[in-house]
Amino acid sequence: MFSHPPTVYRPFMEGVYRVSAGLFRLGAQSVPWREDGQVEGHTFALDRDYARFVASKVAAHRRALHEYAGEAGLTPELREATLAFVARTLAAESGGVMTWDGRRFTNRALGWGADLGLRWGSVEGLTRFGAPLASLVAGVTPLTALDFLGLNAPEDLAVIARDPQEGRDWLAAAHVLSPQHWDPRDKLGRDFVAVHTPVAGSGPMNATAPRLVEAVITRGPFVRFAWGVAMSDRLDHHPVALPDEDRAGETRFDPNRAFLRVERQTLTGFPPAHGALFTIRPYVYPLRGAVATPEQARPLAAALRSMTPEQVAYKGLTPLLPDLLGWLDEQGTLKEPGGQAALHSGT
Ligand code: HEM
Repeated sequence: MFSHPPTVYRPFMEGVYRVSAGLFRLGAQSVPWREDGQVEGHTFALDRDYARFVASKVAAHRRALHEYAGEAGLTPELREATLAFVARTLAAESGGVMTWDGRRFTNRALGWGADLGLRWGSVEGLTRFGAPLASLVAGVTPLTALDFLGLNAPEDLAVIARDPQEGRDWLAAAHVLSPQHWDPRDKLGRDFVAVHTPVAGSGPMNATAPRLVEAVITRGPFVRFAWGVAMSDRLDHHPVALPDEDRAGETRFDPNRAFLRVERQTLTGFPPAHGALFTIRPYVYPLRGAVATPEQARPLAAALRSMTPEQVAYKGLTPLLPDLLGWLDEQGTLKEPGGQAALHSGT
């Protein structure tokens, strides 16, 4: 069940950090950050890390679901379009582990099923049965259909709405249980520009917001990537969750404890319902695995050097950068005595 390893994406290989849309057509354009260059069409990535995502989401749910999830002016039409898409696609991409018959969603890995009301978001008739990962969700009561589906998926879910008359857009729903140092409550109800204003260097992208939102709703689906270096592999970095080593003032760079965090994000529009689904799937790779050759170390160093000081600060890298770059430069120049690049330096 979901036994294949997580795909490795290396978006830094371009050698430059960009705050830009970077949209690829899902199912049509190949993603250059995959080693195999394969064209990918999936929304949900079900792999060996599945249990880890469910466990982390359940912990967040128990701690304070309302800090991670909510709605703001979500219309019944957009709710229905989004939930129907998530239920159908998650089941279709699960290799038979999950099923959806238009009313009931069942997950044979987590050992639960429920009837979902798509228009009003109800979840009823929850039943549980013996299954490999049933213990992970044993104590959890899903509160809405979006909550139930979100707990079944590794991806975080967000819904963008746009008013067909006035054209203004806003974040109409969020079920984001693995946020990377942001609070979904700060974003609910806000438009694209307000959501992205804290991102250093987001001015040019924000200036094109109406066109981006239009593309996301009416053309697509799309996939895009965000990346950064983190000092912990925890999935949930909600600002008010228990702090850890990542972005703690005293944490220094250590190649053995550093990670590359990549977020794979998909965008699927529902034009008649005036909105779109945004999914976020984090991948957290040990840095030594993600940067295993000089050919990988050099573009990561170049990409980090292309950040402005404001972007370095925004990405939480200010206290790490000198040592991180020192390590990458070493990796980037290492040679074996025979002239071959060293893949196993102990430095
Ligand atoms: C066309 C769709 C979108 C594009 C092109 C886009 C682009 C970006 C980019 C370039 C960044 C900076 C990434 C970095 O850290 O290097 C970013 C950050 C972010 N995006 Fe988006 N984004 C899109 C949709 C959304 C949506 C729908 C949400 C709603 C939840 C969202 C939430 C965020 C958040 C929360 C951040 C971090 C902001 C913070 O630190 O407070 N994005 N986005």
